[in-house]
Amino acid sequence: MIPFREFVEQNSFIICAHRGASGIAPENTVAAVRLALESGAPMIEIDVQYTRDHQMVVFHDDTMERTTNGVGAINQKSLEEIQGLDAGSWFSPSFAGERIPKLVDVLELIRGRAYVNLEIKPRPDTEEAQKETLELIELLRSMSMLDTCLFSSFDHRAIRHVRALMPDLPMLALNVPGDTRSPDQVVADCGADVFGCSVEELNEDMMALCRQKGIPVAVYTVNTADELNYVVAMGVRGIVTNMSHIIVPAYEAL
Ligand code: G3P
Ligand code: CA
Repeated sequence: MIPFREFVEQNSFIICAHRGASGIAPENTVAAVRLALESGAPMIEIDVQYTRDHQMVVFHDDTMERTTNGVGAINQKSLEEIQGLDAGSWFSPSFAGERIPKLVDVLELIRGRAYVNLEIKPRPDTEEAQKETLELIELLRSMSMLDTCLFSSFDHRAIRHVRALMPDLPMLALNVPGDTRSPDQVVADCGADVFGCSVEELNEDMMALCRQKGIPVAVYTVNTADELNYVVAMGVRGIVTNMSHIIVPAYEAL
């Protein structure tokens, strides 16, 4: 695989499977990642969270209830405690027994087959959180994946911290709903390369400003052919989608 920055130069529009193929499999599981790879999505987005014993896992929510049979906050659980949970049945009985995967296992699955969009979930601004971010970077380095990934976050402090450590790493600042700053202010403030927002937040004025300032815009979550047509017409450079099995062929047919 060529480095992600080169891939971006060669491709005007990038489709990223959101939490894996989360429209047809339980989000952020190995099953969802496998189906996203099968869909031909060139990039896969996963959410990174930390357990009480500082293990990196792929999981979206702060708490277990919505997508597992467990209860409580993920950062209060050990890796061993969460590995016994069922992270698939909530989605469909056919996915019973899917687990909350360790980040390293998901990265191993994706490595060499797709680019990775690692969303760092908002963290407290502590030394411990900064140490864990360093460990994430070291993990990617040890797997030779630093040049095939993109970091993204709503937590712009985390982006600023990673930028200070890694001047060349591609980074996407997700707009915090209610933030009144313009996209150029947001990316300049934290050192991101890309501005991300929801499809609902997208508008002509924002796109005109980003075009003028040379800021690429990425949008979540684009799940239908109509939404795809809309964001392509608006000049968006990348999307995340729960439905990569539909959006990848729909884009190829445009
Ligand atoms: O990439 C954007 C998207 O993943 C952000 O929202 O809540 O799905 O993690 P969320
Ligand atoms: Ca996410």
